[in-house]
Parts: sequence; structure tokens; C-alpha cells
Amino acid sequence: MFNLILFGPPGSGKGTQSENIIAANGLQHLSTGNLLRSEITHQTPLGLKAKTFMDAGQLVPDEVVIGMVDNFMNAHPQAKGFLFDGFPRTTAQCIALDALLQHKGTEINVVLALEVGEEELVKRLLGRGATSGRSDDTNETIIRARIQEYHDKTTAVATHYAQYNKVISVKGEGTVESIYADLKKEIDARI
Ligand code: AP5
Repeated sequence: MFNLILFGPPGSGKGTQSENIIAANGLQHLSTGNLLRSEITHQTPLGLKAKTFMDAGQLVPDEVVIGMVDNFMNAHPQAKGFLFDGFPRTTAQCIALDALLQHKGTEINVVLALEVGEEELVKRLLGRGATSGRSDDTNETIIRARIQEYHDKTTAVATHYAQYNKVISVKGEGTVESIYADLKKEIDARI
């Protein structure tokens, strides 16, 4: 298996770049943001619980997200590998993911970290909010709260995997195509 974490702050292009990467490498996309939004659309108890946190720009509690990821991975036993997008986001999620993968006899191969400046992130997310209907994109205060959560809790994910020399930084500003070319180079060198 080849397991990749596409890492970066909100709006850094994780979802956008995931599409090309999964198509080229046959990986299973696992976006916790997409899974949570699907739970909200279907008005499940998990979705109703998550919505309060997401609307405030806060992280959903670890136990909710970890259980959802475990279920998703078990539902895809034939996967050649996973592209994790928006997960893990805390040290507790890293530890849980490492244990889940170890149980399957595999591990994280690389963490590709997209680097984008804060004002560019806000500009991108407000731009998407104008048309997407994503409630957490329409309000600049909530967007900045998401970025603050990233600094407070999620940068620890890079620290966790840096101790195993698994983190590669990639410039996340420029055209979608040029950023993908840089990501592809790093993946092709390892897959
Ligand atoms: P999630 O859905 O993961 O959102 P996010 O991390 O805030 O990231 P985005 O999807 O907004 O950004 P992205 O990096 O994927 O960028 P994208 O490609 O979309 O999480 C939402 C919420 O769910 C969280 O706040 C939290 O509450 C909860 N949650 C999710 N996972 C969780 C977890 N593990 N634990 C706890 N809570 C969790 O691009 C953004 C925009 O920029 C798009 O409009 C795109 O077209 C544009 N764009 C992309 N690339 C470029 C480029 N190169 N140049 C110009 N524009 C670009």
C-alpha cells in the first residue's frame, strides 16, 4: 500500500490537488471534510453533532472523526492505498491513524505539506464562499477561526511526522498545474 497525507491549512488546495493525485495513482481519497458534510446532508446524529463545530470554524472532536475514518477504511478493504485529505488534524488523530495503519500492516509513506500565505488562503476561501454554498466559507471571521485552529492544533501533525523524516514542503501558490507537477515529482520518487 502507498499512503499519503496531503497536508496544509484551509484553502491550501488539498481537495483540488487530491483529484489529480488519486486519478494518477489509483489511491482511495479519504477527505474527513467531505465525509462530515455528507453526514450533515443526511442529517445523521454524527452530522448534527459535527455541524455545530464546523459552523463555528472549530475542529470536530477527535473521537467522532477517528471512528468515522476507521469505518471508512474498513469499508474499502481493496484499496491500494489512501490519500488522507484534512486528516489527521491533531496529535491524537496521528496516533490513532498510525495504529489503524499498523493494524493493516502498513504505514504513512509521505506527508506532502502545501505552503500558502494567510491572505491568499482567506482570498481563496471567500472566493469559493461566494458560489459554493459552504457555510464555513462565507464569513471572514469563521475562515480566520479555521486558520487559527490550524495553527493551534494541526501544525502538530507536521511535527509528529517530521520525527520520522516523512514531511516534504511544497509551495502551494501558483497555478494548479505547476503545483501538481511539484507534488507528482515527490510522489513518483516514492511510490
Ligand atoms: P475541510 O473540508 O477539510 O476543509 P479545510 O481544511 O478547511 O479545507 P478546504 O476544503 O476549505 O481547503 P483545501 O485545502 O481542500 O483547498 P481546496 O482545494 O478546497 O474541513 C472543514 C471542517 O470540517 C473543519 O473546519 C472542521 O470543522 C471539520 N473537520 C474536517 N476534518 C476534520 C478532522 N480531521 N478533525 C476535526 N475536524 C475536522 O481549495 C480552496 C479554494 O482555493 C477553492 O476555491 C479552489 O478552487 C481554490 N484553489 C485551489 N488551488 C488554487 C490555486 N493554486 N490558485 C488559486 N486558487 C486555488
